[in-house]
Amino acid sequence: MNRARNIKVLIVLLGVFIVYNLIIYSQKSASSAPIMSSNAIEGEKLWQDNNCTSCHQLYGLGGYLGPDLTNVISHPQKGDAYVEAFLNSGESTMPKFNFTEEEKEKLVAFLAHVDKTGFYPNREAVFSADGWVSIKYK
Ligand code: HEC
Repeated sequence: MNRARNIKVLIVLLGVFIVYNLIIYSQKSASSAPIMSSNAIEGEKLWQDNNCTSCHQLYGLGGYLGPDLTNVISHPQKGDAYVEAFLNSGESTMPKFNFTEEEKEKLVAFLAHVDKTGFYPNREAVFSADGWVSIKYK
């Protein structure tokens, strides 16, 4: 005698399940990664072929002779021209690479792509006068 009611409940639950899934899976994820341009893809190949990662890190991973380059493009005092200047001249233990203008642009495009994917480190310590440290996330 409860069968008809059970079936109704089942149909309602099924309806809720379908609507829920339609809403969840038709939304574009807020964290979807930016699409890599062909220049950035070629830049990544240059990055690998020249072993930049033996001295530099992206998201903290890599060699530790040079600085992390995850956000070098969006850094207020750095950016495209700054990166190209390093590639032109080298500096102390950073070797001088003889890249063409095009290759430098591709490396910059790759680093600009990496930069768009997030922050590293993604937090900043804020020191207050009473000695407490609070962590601010980007
Ligand atoms: C042998 C190690 C080494 C390799 C390989 C190397 N670098 Fe460097 N790089 C360094 C060092 C060390 C510095 C820091 C120099 C300084 O500040 O005096 C540096 C600095 C830089 C900077 C400036 C970063 C900043 O925040 O000031 C950029 C950009 C850079 N390198 C890009 C590259 C790219 C791109 C490659 C690969 C094509 C590369 N480097 C390969 C050692 C290296």
